[in-house]
Amino acid sequence: SKDVEKIHIGFSQAMTNDDWRRSMNNSMELQASMNPEIDLQIKDANYDVLTQIKQIDELIADSVDVLIVSPIQSKPITAVVRKAINASIPVPVVDRKTEGQQYTAYLGADNIEIGRNAAKEIIASNRKDSIRIIEIRGMAGSSPAEERTMGFQQVINQFKNAKIVAKIEGDWEKESIQESLRQLLNNDIKVDYVFAHNDRMAVGAWEVARELGIENEISFIGVDGLAGTNGGIQAVKDGILKATVLYPTGGDEAIKLALKILDNESIPKNNILSTTIINELNADIMNNQFEKINDQQDQMEEQLAAIKLQEELYYSQNNLLKITMAL
Ligand code: FRU
Repeated sequence: SKDVEKIHIGFSQAMTNDDWRRSMNNSMELQASMNPEIDLQIKDANYDVLTQIKQIDELIADSVDVLIVSPIQSKPITAVVRKAINASIPVPVVDRKTEGQQYTAYLGADNIEIGRNAAKEIIASNRKDSIRIIEIRGMAGSSPAEERTMGFQQVINQFKNAKIVAKIEGDWEKESIQESLRQLLNNDIKVDYVFAHNDRMAVGAWEVARELGIENEISFIGVDGLAGTNGGIQAVKDGILKATVLYPTGGDEAIKLALKILDNESIPKNNILSTTIINELNADIMNNQFEKINDQQDQMEEQLAAIKLQEELYYSQNNLLKITMAL
């Protein structure tokens, strides 16, 4: 039957409530739709670890050919990913990792490098003899948060004039950090720079500073650098963020990687997507580039829809012909 030739790709997504993950899902779906054999099934764990474990179990039971996972946190998702591997299902993890490298491959930017880049940008853009920094972390136990901290500290520790004066534990969303930051700033902590592990929290930090009328005394740097009106690039263009570190979602690359795995091509354990600093010097260029890509994606979607319509028309006309001939 037709279904036998289908390639079943399952994707266990941590959640889809933010633009970054929506964009990741969109580029996966677009890439998948270019190959009619691919049947992509996305399950959204809605940021609940138990739900994610259950959904991965379901995808294992469905015997998907490849299981892409973006784990909410490393430790709790490690065993169920290993279970899939033991059931001979390859598991590329994207953006976040499980523990002990117990997956088929990682795809995403190097989060240690992202932390280092953020620190380098702070050092390079500041001539003060004392730079006091607040670090706002992503969810503890998720690999990008741990790795961004690691890279950031490595570089900051090399400079005597730079100091992390406070850390705030966030969960990737701005609501998780605003009250703690308000308290720190109300207690007159002196701060020159805020490094937040993503743009949503960085903009949330800026909002708190603005509330207190001190937004111009502090610089803010985030991570993600999404295009679009609510994205980090726009925040840089608006002067809200001093900079952001690009964190590509890798949605299309994930589908391509899945196909390579199924073709038995040898693939590297770490498939690293490139990152770069976006600041006032290149924000316009970056924005133009991403807008072009988005336009092209829209065109591709339109063309795919047109092809589908043609196919449907063809089949219905063919059926009509058969019916007419039978009469
Ligand atoms: C999206 C997100 C990004 C962040 C990434 C880390 O859900 O929070 O903002 O860079 O996850 O995994």
